[in-house]
Amino acid sequence: ARLAILLSGRGSNMLALAEAVRAGVLQGLAEIVVVFSNDLAAPGIDSAAALGLPTDSLSSKGRKREEFDRDVVAILQEYQPDYVVLAGYMRVLSPTFVRAFAGRIVNIHPADTHQHQGLHAYEWAFDNRLTETKITVHLVDEGLDTGPILAQRVVNLVGADTLAEVQRRGLAVEHVLYAETLAALIKESALAA
Ligand code: GRF
Repeated sequence: ARLAILLSGRGSNMLALAEAVRAGVLQGLAEIVVVFSNDLAAPGIDSAAALGLPTDSLSSKGRKREEFDRDVVAILQEYQPDYVVLAGYMRVLSPTFVRAFAGRIVNIHPADTHQHQGLHAYEWAFDNRLTETKITVHLVDEGLDTGPILAQRVVNLVGADTLAEVQRRGLAVEHVLYAETLAALIKESALAA
């Protein structure tokens, strides 16, 4: 399957997916056809380029959501992705975008989407002194973190007494769960085809 990975920042999930494609659970199942950013300064774009992955970007600064998304859809369509994989893409998708890739947009959210939506999910877990939280991989619909859940995995937070430690444990789970869930999704859709 052809994956378009969208990010806005650090790109640690993109790197984990790239490694899973190279020599892990996504090997032989997926290829990364583009890594796209809405922020020209996103470190994740430089990391992707350093790996030799195709990159593209378009600044969303000052752009209206619908208009910007129309442009992004046009760019992505050139790469003919089977899946649009959000990996720290810090924009809520417009209905235009969601409809263009209906049922084929996947996101990772660092909380149980039934319990916490939107930004600052690790801060939320830390501030509430949760003893565990959940990572969610879900399909994207027109709401914010409301789409059908594909997979969830628990992060044990017992003894995680700094926000950095909460994030460290959570990201470690994210990096494994995202690749595994995409691999399962691709295998399922291949069986269905
Ligand atoms: C991750 O915590 C992801 O769950 C959330 O944004 C963060 C992105 O991190 N959607 P990175 O850019 O993949 O390192």
